[in-house]
Amino acid sequence: MKDNKPVKSPPMQTESSPEKNNSGLNREIQAKIGQQLRAAGSRVVYFAGYKKIIDRYKVEEIEKAADVVVWVCDEAPGFTPGRVQDSAFVGNIVEAMAAYGRGDLGSDLSDAGIPLSSVDRLIVIGSDGMMRAVQQARHSVLRPYLKPDHQAIGSINSPMQCMMKEICAQCLQVHRDPASGVESVVFSCFNQDQDLDRVDFGNLRARLGQNGVQEKLTRLWIDRSLRQLGLRQTAAE
Ligand code: FES
Repeated sequence: MKDNKPVKSPPMQTESSPEKNNSGLNREIQAKIGQQLRAAGSRVVYFAGYKKIIDRYKVEEIEKAADVVVWVCDEAPGFTPGRVQDSAFVGNIVEAMAAYGRGDLGSDLSDAGIPLSSVDRLIVIGSDGMMRAVQQARHSVLRPYLKPDHQAIGSINSPMQCMMKEICAQCLQVHRDPASGVESVVFSCFNQDQDLDRVDFGNLRARLGQNGVQEKLTRLWIDRSLRQLGLRQTAAE
């Protein structure tokens, strides 16, 4: 790194998850985190992932949150970057990070130059599936491009009820020590930002699945109400 300041990279969610409706909120949080990191002197690479082109908004907020933005979209032809140091990629977040690491996107070679190999910390916010993919890819396809001693933090979206830190236990999350395999349990509402390598994502998926019926019913009810009011013509997907 040129300036010896910590570099942080928050890869973002592809919105294909059980918590799809939280994606807008996630985006707001990510933008604020990036802006505050930059204000504190960090340099930020932001992998902003979307399922569809139409899903993107608050572009300026995201640009303010990062020295370099990689706009990632599952849907072709993807995005057109608005700044010279930014780039775009069609595919998923892990593929985009690998392409950036290889230098295929060009942005890490620009004046803003933040190679993936200089990143000290990853902040991973999004669906449990995306966070799990990044957790695993760091030890496989992304390994050649990352510092061996980088830190990775996931913003763990356990289902929550009271959010009063150790009262109702709705937010319990299993951790597993990567070295010893010893299991422990934490309250996610006490601290959502958890060591990515310790999180048992199988447990998280099972806990999130417990809300599946209520989420489907709520979605159907809102869809029915909007169609009855004439605010939506056809049933939502
Ligand atoms: S949500 Fe109730 S203790 Fe965490």
